[in-house]
Amino acid sequence: MTQRKITPDQLRSRWWFDNPEHPGTTALCIERYMNYGITLEELASGKPIIGICQSGSDLTPCNRHHIELVKRVKDGIRAAGGVPFEFPLHPIHENARRPTAALDRNLAYLGLVEVLHGYPLDGVVLTTGCDKTTPASLMAAATVNIPAIVLSGGPMLNGWRGADRVGSGTIIWELRKRLAAGDIDYAEFLARATDSAPSVGHCNTMGTASTMNSMAEALGMSLPGSAMIPAPYKERAMVAYDTGARIVDMVWEDLRPSDILIREAFENAIVVCSALGGSSNAPIHINAIARHSGIELSNDDWQALGHAIPLLANVMPAGAYLSEEFYRAGGVPAIVNELLGAGKLHGEVLTVNGRTLADNCAGRETQDPEVIRRYDNPLVEQAGFLNLKGNLFDSALMKTSVISADFRARFLSNPDDPNAFEGKVVVFDGSEDYHARIDDPALDIDEHTILVMRGAGPVGHPGGAEVVNMQPPEALIKRGIESLPCLGDGRQSGTSGSPSILNAAPEAATGGGLALLEDGDRLRVDLNRGEVRLLIDEAEIQARRERLEQQGGYRYPGHQTPWQEIQRTLVEPLDRGMTLAGATQYRDVARQSPPR
Ligand code: FES
Ligand code: MG
Repeated sequence: MTQRKITPDQLRSRWWFDNPEHPGTTALCIERYMNYGITLEELASGKPIIGICQSGSDLTPCNRHHIELVKRVKDGIRAAGGVPFEFPLHPIHENARRPTAALDRNLAYLGLVEVLHGYPLDGVVLTTGCDKTTPASLMAAATVNIPAIVLSGGPMLNGWRGADRVGSGTIIWELRKRLAAGDIDYAEFLARATDSAPSVGHCNTMGTASTMNSMAEALGMSLPGSAMIPAPYKERAMVAYDTGARIVDMVWEDLRPSDILIREAFENAIVVCSALGGSSNAPIHINAIARHSGIELSNDDWQALGHAIPLLANVMPAGAYLSEEFYRAGGVPAIVNELLGAGKLHGEVLTVNGRTLADNCAGRETQDPEVIRRYDNPLVEQAGFLNLKGNLFDSALMKTSVISADFRARFLSNPDDPNAFEGKVVVFDGSEDYHARIDDPALDIDEHTILVMRGAGPVGHPGGAEVVNMQPPEALIKRGIESLPCLGDGRQSGTSGSPSILNAAPEAATGGGLALLEDGDRLRVDLNRGEVRLLIDEAEIQARRERLEQQGGYRYPGHQTPWQEIQRTLVEPLDRGMTLAGATQYRDVARQSPPR
């Protein structure tokens, strides 16, 4: 039995449901909630009212099985003495939402903050899955700061074609090359791509969904071992029940996000992300959650704390296996156990079950050292992000866990500095421009070219487009050159194995240096120094900047919806988490409830 810190009359929901000072409010609330059969005993006898933020719907297939799972969540809530209230999250589906699902992360955040602040909820279960559902939910929980727990929907089962594993997203990037090379046709492309999605659940690779749900667990916001249980497994429904039961006790313990989301927890998340070979979207979302928790986390922190960490999870796109093997090998607790053993984590941080991360994970040995490697036998050394700078931007990330031996070999152009390479750039303004022109022979793209994508940041393309991992022209692919270095101010899919330099901030649309590039310019990329430099003199850069300003700055397409305009007006750069200006100042909003 939980150690109670608050008494029933301190429940936040009592203001709405049992408030003698405001009898009108009480009457209006209880009569309308009772009209579908909830009893007065449930509403007003001191039971915690628990919100369940439902992220599943017909529009959100990766999360849709939460519609079933929440039945077990409700069973757990009721068994522990709470009353469940389910309500929807604004839908966020990565693969279908245009112009990008990232646009909806902040919209869902805003909506959830208003719900958690403005309704009679004592605690909340956050159902997560598809990429942005996790950060949107955690950002809101951090802002409002009522007891909150994450329930991941879990990944799909492994995809297969014959004896070969087929990983979500990752297969698309591979098949696009096969299609471009003429090895397969459109019908085969579609047939093979759909092999990757054999069941309900989110992407089965270590894309943004698996990364962010693993981050939620590493941060301490979900029950230990829960993040990567495959969606159809019975353990998934069992942990749904446990999650529902646990949130009720968290309300009585007054265990809030601010007790869990502390700086040490975010430092742990960075380290775990590196060992997972996690998505390049993770720094954006983790920095955002941190900022909403009152903690300034920067991409310098990601490099300083994360780059030296080796890759332990042998999961696509950086590795060979998929989420079922990862779960059976021990999942996040086994990764945490290896990192604890190496002294790389703060083990004393608190988690949602009221125990520390070390209590939860110490001794959770890898069950398959091929899939979850020992710290001293990793897949890749130094697998965390590099935070690159230079005369074009202040921050851009490189996901080093996916740098192939082939890529390293082809771009070792300077024998004195084996990590530096130079190339001439070909520049695209957004993905439509790229698709229209990439096969134009006049661009003269060869194996020494660096492809640049600009106009793809959160202002240039509302929300920021996942387009930086550009495929070479078909003619090069047919010659066996399947990748070129890419640089851009947009994002890329977490399922991509491309070692692009991405998330460049500031972006071209807000005065970033990528707007000044011209086809044929030479760039020098020096990974040892953490630098990308445009090789022209400062006077020429300044002259180009003045010309651009005279033309009214970098042009980008207009707004299509009111939210696109509002978001563009308020959105902060990718390295600051793509948060909304001003929103991160709101702290502990629930303490100011009930609303005036
Ligand atoms: Fe939803 Fe990957 S598309 S998790
Ligand atoms: Mg994506």
